[in-house]
Amino acid sequence: MPMIREAVVTTIDRSGLAHLAPLGLIEDGQGWVIAPFRPSTSLDNLVETPFAVANYTDDARIFAGLVTGRRDWPLVPAAKVPVPRLADALAHAELGIARIEDDAARPRFHCEILHREQHAPFAGFNRAKNAVLECAILLTRLHMLPRDKIEREIAYLATAIEKTAGPQEREAWSWLMQKREAFYAEN
Ligand SMILES: Cc1cc2nc3c(=O)[nH]c(=O)nc-3n(C[C@H](O)[C@H](O)[C@H](O)COP(=O)(O)O)c2cc1C
Repeated sequence: MPMIREAVVTTIDRSGLAHLAPLGLIEDGQGWVIAPFRPSTSLDNLVETPFAVANYTDDARIFAGLVTGRRDWPLVPAAKVPVPRLADALAHAELGIARIEDDAARPRFHCEILHREQHAPFAGFNRAKNAVLECAILLTRLHMLPRDKIEREIAYLATAIEKTAGPQEREAWSWLMQKREAFYAEN
C-alpha cells in the first residue's frame, strides 16, 4: 500500500468559489493522487478547475471543523494556481491535475506539484491532534460502521485527549462529540 498524507485540500468551482475538505494524498512517484469518493464537491471542482492546494496544518480544529460543518477558515491567494490556500497552513503544495483515472465509485486525480511553500515550523507530534484526526475520519463513516466499533475507538482516542490535549484539541474534540451525539439521537 502507498503512503497517505492527510491534508486539507482546497479546490474551486468554475465561478471561483473555494471549497475545503480533509482528503488523503496518496503517494505517487514525484506527485500525489487525490481520490474522493462520489458524491463530492472536491471531485466536481477538480473536474471543473484542474488545480488544487494541499494545505499541511497541525490545527486539529480545521479537520474537526470541516467534518462538523464549520467551513469558514481564512484563505489567501496561492502563488501559481488560481486556488487559494489556508492562511494558517504550516506549508502548502500547489497541484495541477495531470491525469484523471475515472471510476464509478472513486476517481483518481493524478497531481503534479507545481509549487511548494513553507510558512511556519512544525512543532512536533501530539497524540491529541492525532486522536482528533482519527476521530474525524471515524465520524465521516458513522453510517457505515457499527455503533459498538465507533464507541470503542472513541473511548480509546479519548485517553490521548485527556492526557495530551491543549485548548485547540479540546475544542476540536468537543465538536466531534457533539456530532456523534446528534447522529445517535436520530439513528
Ligand atoms: C483526515 C481525513 C481524511 C479523509 N480522506 C478522504 C479521502 O481520501 N477520500 C474521501 O473521499 N474522503 C475522505 N475523507 C472524508 C471527506 O473529507 C469528507 O467525506 C468530505 O465531505 C469530502 O466531500 P466534499 O468534497 O464534498 O467536501 C477524509 C476525512 C478526514 C477527516
